[in-house]
Amino acid sequence: MAINTNLCILFPFLFLTSTTTVLSRPLLPVTSVNQTQVYIVHVEHPNSPSDLLHPADRGDWYQSFLPNTTLDSGKPRMVYTYSAAMSGFAALLTPNEVSDMESIPGFLSAWPDHNLHLRTTYTPALLGLDEYSSSLWQSSDKGEGIIIGVIDTGITPDHASFSDVGLPEPPLKWRGRCELPTTYAAYCSNKLIGAQGLVGGAGKSPIDTNGHGTHVAGIAAGSPVDGANVLGQARGTASGMAPRAHIASYRVCRPCSDSNIIMGFDKAITDGVDLVQISIGGKNRPYDTNGVVIGSFAALSKGILTINSAGNDGPFASMLDNDVPWILHVGAANIDRRATAVLKLGNGMEFVGMSAYQPDPSTAVDLPLVYPGVNKTQETLSCQKGSMTGFNVTGKMVLCGTGYIDPTAKAEVVKEAGGAAIVMMNQPSEANTINADPYTIPAVHISFDDALKVLNYFETHKNPTGTISFRGTEYGIRPSPTVASFSSRGPSLLNGGILKPDVIAPGVNILSAWPVAVGPADKQNLTDDTAKEKKTTFIFHKGTSMAAPHVSGVAALLKKLHPDWSPAAIKSSIMTSALTVDRDGNPITDDASGKPASIFAVGAGHINPPSARDPGLVYNASTEDYIPYLCGLRGYTTRKVRKIVKMPVKCKEKKGAEEVNYPAIQVAMVAATNKSVTRYVTNVGEASSSYTADVVEPTGVKVKVNPTTLQFTSFGEEQSFVVQLNLAGTKPLGKKEVRVGRLKWVSGKHEVSSPIVVTA
Ligand SMILES: *[C@@H]1O[C@H](CO)[C@@H](O)[C@H](O)[C@H]1NC(C)=O
Ligand SMILES: *[C@@H]1O[C@H](CO)[C@@H](O)[C@H](O)[C@H]1NC(C)=O
Ligand SMILES: *[C@@H]1O[C@H](CO)[C@@H](O)[C@H](O)[C@H]1NC(C)=O
Ligand SMILES: *[C@@H]1O[C@H](CO)[C@@H](O)[C@H](O)[C@H]1NC(C)=O
Ligand SMILES: *[C@@H]1O[C@H](CO)[C@@H](O)[C@H](O)[C@H]1NC(C)=O
Ligand SMILES: *[C@@H]1O[C@H](CO)[C@@H](O)[C@H](O)[C@H]1NC(C)=O
Ligand SMILES: *[C@@H]1O[C@H](CO)[C@@H](O)[C@H](O)[C@H]1NC(C)=O
Repeated sequence: MAINTNLCILFPFLFLTSTTTVLSRPLLPVTSVNQTQVYIVHVEHPNSPSDLLHPADRGDWYQSFLPNTTLDSGKPRMVYTYSAAMSGFAALLTPNEVSDMESIPGFLSAWPDHNLHLRTTYTPALLGLDEYSSSLWQSSDKGEGIIIGVIDTGITPDHASFSDVGLPEPPLKWRGRCELPTTYAAYCSNKLIGAQGLVGGAGKSPIDTNGHGTHVAGIAAGSPVDGANVLGQARGTASGMAPRAHIASYRVCRPCSDSNIIMGFDKAITDGVDLVQISIGGKNRPYDTNGVVIGSFAALSKGILTINSAGNDGPFASMLDNDVPWILHVGAANIDRRATAVLKLGNGMEFVGMSAYQPDPSTAVDLPLVYPGVNKTQETLSCQKGSMTGFNVTGKMVLCGTGYIDPTAKAEVVKEAGGAAIVMMNQPSEANTINADPYTIPAVHISFDDALKVLNYFETHKNPTGTISFRGTEYGIRPSPTVASFSSRGPSLLNGGILKPDVIAPGVNILSAWPVAVGPADKQNLTDDTAKEKKTTFIFHKGTSMAAPHVSGVAALLKKLHPDWSPAAIKSSIMTSALTVDRDGNPITDDASGKPASIFAVGAGHINPPSARDPGLVYNASTEDYIPYLCGLRGYTTRKVRKIVKMPVKCKEKKGAEEVNYPAIQVAMVAATNKSVTRYVTNVGEASSSYTADVVEPTGVKVKVNPTTLQFTSFGEEQSFVVQLNLAGTKPLGKKEVRVGRLKWVSGKHEVSSPIVVTA
């Protein structure tokens, strides 16, 4: 088996990618002392973990914390009772009632529920999964029998991507339910084995009215759909990464509140999923009041790996959420496919951009340019509703900045005002990441640098004009992959010592399933032949939301191949096999700067599924291994840690984040000129094997690995080693300085690669 030196990229499938939404900073509602709102309440039973109590006893015990069962209005106070994801419940309470509760024995803490955001922008992929007999797809039966729990905005059950042709029944351990409304009941299947709605009032339907959950589920485990396309672009067979895995959908949005998310984990764990995929999050939220962190730890303790999107708050530093070591945290990469649209100005300058809507022949020829943004208001700069007032856009091409509303909605504003075409111009932070959206008029989305040139032309020419032409879908765009400008970056503020994000994966212009038709009616022809009675709309979407389910699908393939691997082992194999250079062997470029990406943007690198299947060695960890780490986090008392881990712990042992047995090494060297970290690796390759340390030292840092050779004689054997880093003799690191090296354990067959990151 080849090591991770070459990524075989083929294009027989379009991988579905969907949108990840990142929650913006949680707004804690301002609540008067007498106003009720949902609180999440952590309690600890004096004798027994709450998931072992009889459900009736548990319900009574939780209820005993409440003043009474209903509000004056008759509305029940209890919103959720949790068992698997945390010990506690969510209930309607006033701040005063919460204060009263604090004296009740067993009470740990309560925090007001807050709403998180979906991490959706738009996205697509190409990862070396193919039909050849020796491929990862073949050896893992495409994930057959593995259950991916998708905690999101629900599902579109009648989409062709969720057809179950030829799939076996779910495994016996499955205890979940597929609760579709009557009109959809026929669509519960061996693909969609679970569907539950946790939001939306009395009906609580799992049907996706947003699109995000459908797109995400399609990327992770969508069934193959032939002739899939977006308004004719990127035509091919759409397929999820693990097309034979089962999907269990838990609708927790909108609102994507913590109380809903914890209930999603609660159900997924109880139902028996193998993996949790969640493309939802916020920014820098403390771990003990964070539903994704709490739910994912409970999942971990049942052997379930959680894959989470890193967020769409790039390119600004340190805007990560849920950046704990047991979550596999995924940033977004741009891919090499483009639905190409070209803008040519009256002076002959050309700019290559994108659009999914490509009328042939183009009607946008030599049109006068109009820029409502000359009024310099937020509305006119970004072409929001009402922004065309006072401008004659009839039959013209309108220049619009991105932001505030969806690009396709801007095209509608322009079209309604009589405009004939639209140029979508990036903001500075969006830089070179552009999308192929399903517009209804001729359109082209261009980069920020190109936008500056277009605006300069507009301002300096008397009768500025433009022409948009289309080139269809092009592949092999270079450089590739690159880091999407919006992908959230480290370093983690809560968690120095753990490199985040863990990996990047395709997350821009990802084609996946969508609940409703898009674009102009005459282009909505959908697929060639598959499942005509089913929905077959696909769109491109971008976001770390789309990146995470690529990794969830790969994790499902690995789980199938290696059922006995721990969550940490699966995570390790994906990280240590990641690609650290692009397809031309150059450092991975950042879309935001056009320069080599920082280690805090790419983490361990770009996923490389074919090599993840046989990593040789893994950096393993048990659930208990994370407890000394949590105890060692600044400000995390025993009480706080207990809220996260749901087991009686005493913070006797504390361990720095640097000492977690992580597949990446990150150390801060402020005072010390020397620092050592210990790691251990488990042999999951050939019983008898020998690995040698191959070190690339970070600039100015001496690295010693001891021992330099690891000899294994049996499968599953563990060996430890010490990495000593030495700054002696060089000047100390500047405040924001980062130095990067690499440690590879190399055998004849394997290369187990970890970044070494030294910060001040
Ligand atoms: C809250 O309710 C109490 C008792 O009904 C009342 O005395 C008090 O004025 C109320 N406070 C506010 C801020 O509404
Ligand atoms: C429940 O308790 C609250 C606060 O103690 C009180 O205002 C309310 O009247 C009670 N409701 C019922 C139905 O007893
Ligand atoms: C833009 O400015 C012009 C001239 O001041 C004005 O007539 C027009 O209403 C403005 N349009 C918008 C949408 O602000
Ligand atoms: C708008 O511009 C078009 C094309 O230049 C022109 O025919 C039309 O009369 C203009 N409308 C107004 C209201 O000025
Ligand atoms: C849509 O389908 C019809 C009938 O199959 C075909 O005649 C037409 O050309 C198609 N339109 C597009 C835009 O593909
Ligand atoms: C990793 O550790 C877990 C928990 O201690 C153990 O069950 C598992 O066998 C170990 N090895 C692998 C490869 O997962
Ligand atoms: C650091 O390590 C080097 C080499 O191992 C050793 O010579 C030196 O004395 C150490 N310095 C400190 C401050 O421990």
